[in-house]
Amino acid sequence: TAFLFVFVTLFAHNTGATTISKTMPVKNVIVAIAMEAEAAPFIQHLQLKLVADFFPSNTPFQAYQGPHGDCTVTVITNGKDTVHETGVDNVGTVPAALATFLALQKLPETDILINAGTCGGFRRKGAEVGNVFVVTGVAHHDRRIPIPDFVPYGIGKLDTSRHGDFTTAEVLALELEYKLGVCTTGNSLDKTEEDDKHMLANDAAVKDMEAAAIAWSCKLFDTPFLGLKVVTDIVDGEHPTQDEFLANLLAASQSLQVALPRVLDHICHVGVVKD
Ligand code: ADE
Repeated sequence: TAFLFVFVTLFAHNTGATTISKTMPVKNVIVAIAMEAEAAPFIQHLQLKLVADFFPSNTPFQAYQGPHGDCTVTVITNGKDTVHETGVDNVGTVPAALATFLALQKLPETDILINAGTCGGFRRKGAEVGNVFVVTGVAHHDRRIPIPDFVPYGIGKLDTSRHGDFTTAEVLALELEYKLGVCTTGNSLDKTEEDDKHMLANDAAVKDMEAAAIAWSCKLFDTPFLGLKVVTDIVDGEHPTQDEFLANLLAASQSLQVALPRVLDHICHVGVVKD
């Protein structure tokens, strides 16, 4: 790690790379996790404490906070559906973007936001159930607006590979032996044939329901976004998504509990590069 750090720092300075100017120590990390089941093992593992008044009282969102090494870690979850009174987790882009925005507004000193959670994986991109992916970029696959000027807005592509950590998503994945790829986001767990075309066009390796929305909120605050996704189901496989997802949710959440501290150790000990 030390060698890589020196190498990357020297490399960045010697090439005069435009996007890398200085290495910052990481102090404040937000981890955005949509579902309680995904977040619970990690919150327990780090012994984080519920912060009662973190979010406005009319929102369902939850925040848990505590130290990890030199960092303060704040986990935010989207809470339960009180509007339709179903009591299920508020998955999807709307709660994700709103919770992220409010958390970044509350914690303007945030050095990096990690969006961790489960995802579908594409076999054609080498994904297998249980794999951990570091997200190199995000895009939507269900925001179709066939008016030329609106097309790129609808797709909402964002490169998240450069300031994901002090080096790049690539170095993080290499060091921790995780896979790399684009995360395509939509508001459905399943997919249509039309979705398929757009996910292919997005060059997606994984599919989720939040990343592109969270990265959008991060962009408004100029806060680095790092996507970390564990595969629960194979999108281009033979099993119904919901069956595979439910069967693997617990194992994937436990795998996140291992992956997240490794990523935190990596970024908290070394630093993050800001543009
Ligand atoms: N989360 C886990 N699996 C998913 C899938 N196939 N699509 C969207 N979000 C997911």
